[in-house]
Amino acid sequence: MNEESLAKLRQRNLDSAGDWKRYASHRRQATRLILEAAPEKATRLCLLGAGNCNDVELTALFKTFGEIHLVDLDKAAMQEGLQRQKSGIQGKAILHGPIDINTDQAASQLAGLGEFDVVASICILSQLIDEIPEDQREKETAVPLAQKIRRRHFDLLAKLAGEKGNIVIANEAVSSDSEPRVATCDPPQLGPLLVELAMQQKLFIGLNPAVLALDLQTLSTDGELLTSPPWKWDFGPRTYAVCGHTLKRQA
Ligand SMILES: C[S@@+](CC[C@H](N)C(=O)[O-])C[C@H]1O[C@@H](n2cnc3c(N)ncnc32)[C@H](O)[C@@H]1O
Repeated sequence: MNEESLAKLRQRNLDSAGDWKRYASHRRQATRLILEAAPEKATRLCLLGAGNCNDVELTALFKTFGEIHLVDLDKAAMQEGLQRQKSGIQGKAILHGPIDINTDQAASQLAGLGEFDVVASICILSQLIDEIPEDQREKETAVPLAQKIRRRHFDLLAKLAGEKGNIVIANEAVSSDSEPRVATCDPPQLGPLLVELAMQQKLFIGLNPAVLALDLQTLSTDGELLTSPPWKWDFGPRTYAVCGHTLKRQA
């Protein structure tokens, strides 16, 4: 990633660093998804795109996981995020950064970490797809690029999860910027709204939850695919509809 894009990413993290309270409901959902993915004897969790750590309740996760690895391009965001959680967990989480997970080298850079009981990718694939340069965002160019990014991301998840690890993936599918009903609809209406928008091809490029579920399922022939009801993420300037899936290979 070039210096300008890195500076933008760092600024975005700084802009949302103080959003702990606003993220409460989104954080509850993301943390629940990760905890539900934990196998009975879970010890090791890897969290990709941990950044500010506003979307995970690390104290709750440490009650289940003995070892939590955080990976991000922005190491300072992770360090500052841990400071903000102020719960005695600072020395326990293991930080890996800066690591650009949107590269072919990421898998080998992280290979030394071994295999994890749970690998979680919470609202990071959307960021990777968002890194497609402005001049390549025409639909015909962007769709294959997004597919390539998605494939590489799933390969990384599969490598980190090894033979038996469970995988959690959650992403923004659309926002209230393009579809105001995302903010105003009752939560039970969010699912039907997403189906309607998917049929009209109005979801974010590369982030159709049904396609992500299929991709996840192809990582394992015998794993169980679980889909969570979508939820709203109040981001401040806009609301996102977030969809989460889990591939469970050990109970
Ligand atoms: C939307 S944030 C996810 C929410 C974040 N966990 C939080 O609680 O604020 C996306 C995160 O992905 C990180 N990121 C974006 N592109 C990345 C890349 N290519 N490699 C590694 N991390 C990246 C950003 O630094 C940011 O922390």
